[in-house]
Amino acid sequence: MNILLIGGGGREHAIAAAIKKSGGNLYSFMEFRNPGIARISDDILIANNLNELLKWKHVRNGNIDFAIVGPEAPLEAGIVNSLQEIGIACASPSKEAAQIETSKKFMRDLMKKYNIPGYVESHYFSDENDLISFMKDFEKEFAVKPVGLTGGKGVKVQGHHFSTREEGIKYAREVIKAGIGEGKGVLIEEKMEGEEYTLQAFTDGKNLIPMPLVQDFKRAYENDEGPNTGGMGSYSMADHSLPFIDSSALEKSKEILKMIIESMEREGIEYRGTIYGQFMLTKHGPKVIEINARFGDPEAMNVLSIFEGDFLRIIEGMAYGNLSLRYSKFSNLGTVVKYLVPPGYGSNPHGGEEFFVDEEGIRNSGAVFYYGSVDERNGKLYTTHSRTIAIVGIHEDLYEAEKIAENSIRFVKGNLYHRSDIGKRETILKKLKKMEEILKDP
Ligand code: AMP
Ligand code: GLY
Repeated sequence: MNILLIGGGGREHAIAAAIKKSGGNLYSFMEFRNPGIARISDDILIANNLNELLKWKHVRNGNIDFAIVGPEAPLEAGIVNSLQEIGIACASPSKEAAQIETSKKFMRDLMKKYNIPGYVESHYFSDENDLISFMKDFEKEFAVKPVGLTGGKGVKVQGHHFSTREEGIKYAREVIKAGIGEGKGVLIEEKMEGEEYTLQAFTDGKNLIPMPLVQDFKRAYENDEGPNTGGMGSYSMADHSLPFIDSSALEKSKEILKMIIESMEREGIEYRGTIYGQFMLTKHGPKVIEINARFGDPEAMNVLSIFEGDFLRIIEGMAYGNLSLRYSKFSNLGTVVKYLVPPGYGSNPHGGEEFFVDEEGIRNSGAVFYYGSVDERNGKLYTTHSRTIAIVGIHEDLYEAEKIAENSIRFVKGNLYHRSDIGKRETILKKLKKMEEILKDP
């Protein structure tokens, strides 16, 4: 089978590896040359324009059996619709279905209309005066969320990114005025307190196959400080749950994803592809923070590194609407992903610098790696403005997995930093303690 893969980061390197492992031929489209993907592809196209992809010989001559899209931007641009028009099935959602991610307003409106549990109070504004007059009477602590895409970096939360109401309102006005989040307006949301977790699932619009839970670390610096990023690293546990999640929270989270898919179908929108729920466990149970229309990055690397089923059958099932549980299997191992990123990543990154990877060293120390947004030119590796390379430790004991990942960081040399606290015992105990306090707070 010939698979077209769109995207060139760490998540896509993990998808590419899973496709190759299950015996597919790989045709990859990316903006910069990711050496990890390029090496295992049967052919690659490097371009920054989706029209080039539609003109690519493999796409035009009917050589592709189906496609899968990694990042959100091509989903929003409607690449799935364009591919379907020329007869290429996709294991990713159409532009309409991807609105669950590309418009946070669409997501909240859908949850409200269909009474889906996990809804967070949310108010939409596209006019500064409406915002100001509403905020006069709104007394809760809040989060400011641009409605459109911002690469995970546009949300600001009171007490984390701003302290006074005035600062929050000022930022919300900027979002409206400066067009942050594509000028689609702003949401003021009630602030939630709790621990966040990711539940990804495969779906063909009817069947839903959940993947192991993952916890992502979004803040740029140790101890969850600094600006939000796309994710600095993540961990998952051998039992596929997380230390602070019980079976009832897990079941509720699965049910929420299922209800979202069903509600979209009732709206006449079929959702096919990976769906990603960013949840927060609060004292009132799981709440939806955001829904994404794709695998998470880094979360894809946790789950795909331990995937032992037949990945081709899974993505084919999503593309053709006949997804079957029997092809999905994840081994009972814990994983820790640590991203190395350029200085300033999350706010003002300095990319374009050369860096060096001792791949043998990483392999020999028992870790796995995935290249992120890097550029290979004339045999040399350069950073870009996004995440550079992810190291993954895999072991039945989470803390051993963490050590494996941390020990391999030294095999990457360059002007890069990472979060050493991700997956460490102290970090996880701190999260457990925070959760206990939130749950017992009256
Ligand atoms: P998002 O891009 O929607 O995932 O938001 C980025 C981050 O902002 C989330 O991972 C949360 O840490 C935080 N956040 C978003 N919405 C809320 C909320 N309503 N209450 C508290 N924190 C939030
Ligand atoms: N790691 C968060 C995301 O992929 O959106």
